[in-house]
Amino acid sequence: MNFKELTADKTAQIETMLRKYLPVEEGYQKTVLAAMNYSILAGGKRLRPLLMQETYRMLRGTEQTVEPFMAALEMIHTYSLVHDDLPAMDNDEYRRGRKTTHIVYGEAMGVLAGDALLNYAFETALQAYDKTSDPARVTKAMKLLAGRAGIYGMIGGQTADIEAEHQKTDVNEEHLLYIHEHKTGALIQAAMGIGAVLAGADDQTVQDMEQCALSIGVAFQIQDDILDVTSTTEVLGKPVGSDAKNEKLTYVTMKGMEQAAEDVRNYSKQAMDILEKYAGEDRYLLQLVQSLITRQH
Ligand code: IPE
Ligand code: IPE
Ligand code: MG
Ligand code: MG
Ligand code: MG
Repeated sequence: MNFKELTADKTAQIETMLRKYLPVEEGYQKTVLAAMNYSILAGGKRLRPLLMQETYRMLRGTEQTVEPFMAALEMIHTYSLVHDDLPAMDNDEYRRGRKTTHIVYGEAMGVLAGDALLNYAFETALQAYDKTSDPARVTKAMKLLAGRAGIYGMIGGQTADIEAEHQKTDVNEEHLLYIHEHKTGALIQAAMGIGAVLAGADDQTVQDMEQCALSIGVAFQIQDDILDVTSTTEVLGKPVGSDAKNEKLTYVTMKGMEQAAEDVRNYSKQAMDILEKYAGEDRYLLQLVQSLITRQH
């Protein structure tokens, strides 16, 4: 199989795996369960679970512990999108090719579905304790998941992103990098960091994987900023021009389109230089990072 077929195959397997962990829509709370499933089953690239799985595989992980963490991280990522689209935040009506969760289920259910996905992510990740012979690894992975999703991670980045709208605060490039490293980089760090920790990697390796992930995350968000200007809603499955509408601070507004594209290449190159030290014969992650440089959605 070539890279494209391999990726389609891996993504389909992740899709099947995710379904196993989703709640059954029943009981008095079934509306929120339906809203959770609606948002998570809408598709999406499944990049974070894929990165986690491939890091784990590259570092020769052998247990089944990675699966609940892959599902948990995709739940947290999806919650971040559900809340990101709310009227109080980016106020967007399309996501993953369909109406956003709050448009279909109402704003209250949008808030609750996000809360529910976050909480259920931890309930899901905790299942890894039943699958391991080394609980200390799972504890380390839990800490990473909690921290990278939290106030010093993704939530920190989303906060700074909102406050940088309309040039309300005096922002410089360092501030912009903080936003991208945290709102997007942090969950990608969780993906690769957890993959490494669960595989039993030493501290240096975990640190390298997290550093690599941070560069991938920044490149990924800069490309997201670019596509918000250059793509179409049909291709992206979400509205283009969302950043302009909200007067967001992005790499495109601060540095221009050409420099933004150059930055995507540079950050990706930094990530690949780290990966090169670990990859050996296993070229998949390198190809994946390479493919993200020119991704169109
Ligand atoms: C969207 O993430 C939000 C960003 C961090 C740019 P993705 O582009 O990975 O979204 P899905 O999961 O494929 O829908
Ligand atoms: C979102 O950044 C990052 C998170 C949701 C944590 P954006 O606001 O640019 O993501 P999109 O473009 O709506 O997917
Ligand atoms: Mg946003
Ligand atoms: Mg948004
Ligand atoms: Mg965006």
